[in-house]
Amino acid sequence: MSKWVTTGVVIGWLMLGFASTWATADNISPQAVIGWKLFFDPLLSRPKNTSCATCHDPAKGYGDGLPLGKGAYGQTLPRHTPSVVNLQNAPHLFWDGRVQSLKDQAIVPLTNPIEMDMTPPEIVSRVAAQPHYQRAFAAIDVDNIGIEDIVGAIVAFERALVTGPTVFDRWLQGDKDALNAAQKRGRMIFFTRGQCAICHVGHNFTDHEFHNVGTGTANDLGRFVITQQPEDQGSFKTPSLRNWKGREPFMHDGRFASMRDVLAFYSNPPAPQVGESELDPLELDDDEITDLLAFLETLNGAWPDLSFYAAAWEKLISP
Ligand code: HEC
Ligand code: HEC
Repeated sequence: MSKWVTTGVVIGWLMLGFASTWATADNISPQAVIGWKLFFDPLLSRPKNTSCATCHDPAKGYGDGLPLGKGAYGQTLPRHTPSVVNLQNAPHLFWDGRVQSLKDQAIVPLTNPIEMDMTPPEIVSRVAAQPHYQRAFAAIDVDNIGIEDIVGAIVAFERALVTGPTVFDRWLQGDKDALNAAQKRGRMIFFTRGQCAICHVGHNFTDHEFHNVGTGTANDLGRFVITQQPEDQGSFKTPSLRNWKGREPFMHDGRFASMRDVLAFYSNPPAPQVGESELDPLELDDDEITDLLAFLETLNGAWPDLSFYAAAWEKLISP
């Protein structure tokens, strides 16, 4: 036990660093303001009915609240729509990590025939035909709008999607009264007996690695699809647990409607359908689950403040 306690303390200490800046009207870049407009603009999809925000809806934790995503023509996508906050330092994107930067990621949904179904030249001509985008880009010295300017703006907006400090952040910074008794017990479970921090570690509670927790299926082999390495069968990217509340359902296929369902799963993980699960059955009792849940609640901070963007946009495009 004491080895686990030490590990927990060391891990907890390591979690102090790497916070990104909270975006405000005073520090937001004009590029991010243009990105905000583009992120919410259905003009970027062929039938003009779907924006990034249709699927990454701020009111739903920047996801869509559905088990599996839904494309511009109503098709069901193969995976659950993840949140897009706190991705500033993410080395791999998508559940299988097939893309390494936000820049390379954004073009994927834009051009996927079952998502937004556009081509780069079509996107450019639609955006460049709008006087307000012409004025906005001219304000950042772009007179000849190209796809990299459009993607660059979307990425600048995504990079500004930082969530606010949490109760647990306050505790880490030395406020020992920030956690109540149940939350403190839950913290011990998270970092020791529950083994959660083996994978959900660091400022955003993810190691940015791929693991098999027994959720892969014959239909979705996860990371294996990209690497073809047998050991990657059934592995998915560890999702962040920062600001989990509001982005239910959970997992790459949205199989769990609530955090309680997730904890019941970790307590008694079923046999994996593909590959070998890395999980040990925890057999948490009801009190432990309640405490763990109490701790997990302390990982939720404010969602990004978008209230200043509309005024910033108006200012940017005013002559
Ligand atoms: C039709 C719904 C839909 C639309 C529209 C959409 N996305 Fe997504 N997005 C998804 C799904 C589903 C995934 C996960 C796919 C996977 O992992 O295979 C995803 C994944 C992502 C990720 C990776 C997050 C992570 O943690 O790995 C980012 C970033 C992202 N989308 C940004 C965008 C941007 C920017 C746009 C607009 C240009 C956009 N998305 C449009 C459904 C959508
Ligand atoms: C061996 C690594 C590992 C361990 C240990 C682990 N997780 Fe996970 N966790 C993952 C991976 C990988 C996923 C994604 C699986 C998927 O999408 O099918 C995940 C998914 C989740 C999700 C869903 C989040 C979302 O956005 O969909 C939650 C919540 C979660 N884990 C909480 C926990 C808790 C609580 C513990 C400890 C009881 C724990 N995990 C232990 C690797 C791990």
